[in-house]
Amino acid sequence: MLGNFSYCNPTKLYFGDDSLRYLNAELPKYGDNVVLIYGGGSIKKNGIYDEVVQILKDNGKHVAEISGVMPNPTVDKLYEGVDIARRHQADLLLAVGGGSVCDYAKAVSVSVNCADDPWEKYYIRFEEPDCETLPVGCVLTMVGTGSEMNAGAVITNPHTHQKIGHVFADENIMPKFSILNPKYTLTLPREQMIAGIYDIFNHICEQYFSGADDNTSDYLSEGLMRAVIDASRVANQDMQNYEARSNLMWAATWALNTLLSRGKSTDWMVHMLGQSVGAYTNATHGMTLSAVSLPYYRHILPYGVPKFKRFAVNVWGIDPQGKTDEQTALEGLAAMEGWMRELDLVMNLSALGATEDMLDGIADGTIVLPGGYKVLERAEILDILKESFA
Ligand code: NZQ
Ligand code: ZN
Repeated sequence: MLGNFSYCNPTKLYFGDDSLRYLNAELPKYGDNVVLIYGGGSIKKNGIYDEVVQILKDNGKHVAEISGVMPNPTVDKLYEGVDIARRHQADLLLAVGGGSVCDYAKAVSVSVNCADDPWEKYYIRFEEPDCETLPVGCVLTMVGTGSEMNAGAVITNPHTHQKIGHVFADENIMPKFSILNPKYTLTLPREQMIAGIYDIFNHICEQYFSGADDNTSDYLSEGLMRAVIDASRVANQDMQNYEARSNLMWAATWALNTLLSRGKSTDWMVHMLGQSVGAYTNATHGMTLSAVSLPYYRHILPYGVPKFKRFAVNVWGIDPQGKTDEQTALEGLAAMEGWMRELDLVMNLSALGATEDMLDGIADGTIVLPGGYKVLERAEILDILKESFA
């Protein structure tokens, strides 16, 4: 473990099938004006909205709403929410939904008292807030992003075909509290559950496939990956299995709450490719990742053979006996591919609505990060994208 780092994660978690009642413990810590933020209506259908509103009423809160936060929230929706939060003089932003709603609440939080245009300031210039931010609380209904315990906020600008995530350096941007009730995830459509599972798995991969030192984070990552694989198989057979869904929920939080990245340079190129695909197609986040993953990992494998071999042996149980390291490593990726097909993940960009004429734009929109085993050239990005159509 050769890195130097600090570690602080201030988000308080309440986990389990009775966790919503702890909203009663959190609400008195904030002023009376709450902005309730949610998505396209799933929380009204499954009853979570009524439960939350009742608790807000019981606590005497004055509530305004931002509804209709779409998957992959847009910059125009951000401007609308900032206006509502300003007019309501919000003391707390309460996000009830998935990663999109939770990310969006954080983006509103850093923008309400910001004099600049938030898109330009946070997503083009990548500045940190120099204004007062609003506290965010989260009631999570979709599992995958880890947004419930991190400082990431991904916003899409459909006018410029850019989907950009800003992971704020200040841990105050992380939710103050998050309520994780696995029961709330049982109404998710299968496609969302599966996309979320792959999102979790890939978050772990993005941190694992970097560095060469003996690092405790890698052992934690392998354990979490195995937990995700096991639980995904149970949940895939029986979507109402609470035990499996609760394991997925807990694994998702720990996959991207800053723990695993300690001492790692981290890769994130699958996400950079996937986000650029998302900017052109508005496809489900986890599926943009699954579509580009195997071409990407097969491409970088020669530059990181020891780690890919370790992945094959420790995560997928491949026997390295009598094989070259590269053979073992490739068998690991083949096992991963088998699992991805078993889950019925999208493995092809065309299934997401991408067309070959978008390739150049997607490549141009892919931000190249230097932390993985190979810093990609533009031609390599194009090759990987082309292979993702095969
Ligand atoms: O909008 P509603 O009607 O609520 O429906 C949502 C939405 O259509 C539905 N849903 C959520 N909970 C449900 C439910 N349907 C039935 N029952 C429930 N309990 O699921 C759909 C997807 O929701 P969304 O919030 O968009 O999914 P996800 O949690 O995957 O979030 C995706 C966003 O998070 C960003 C992605 O880029 C994307 O914009 N990410 C955020 C990260 C972070 N903060 O660190 C990291 C990730 O890598 C990711 O980039
Ligand atoms: Zn992700």
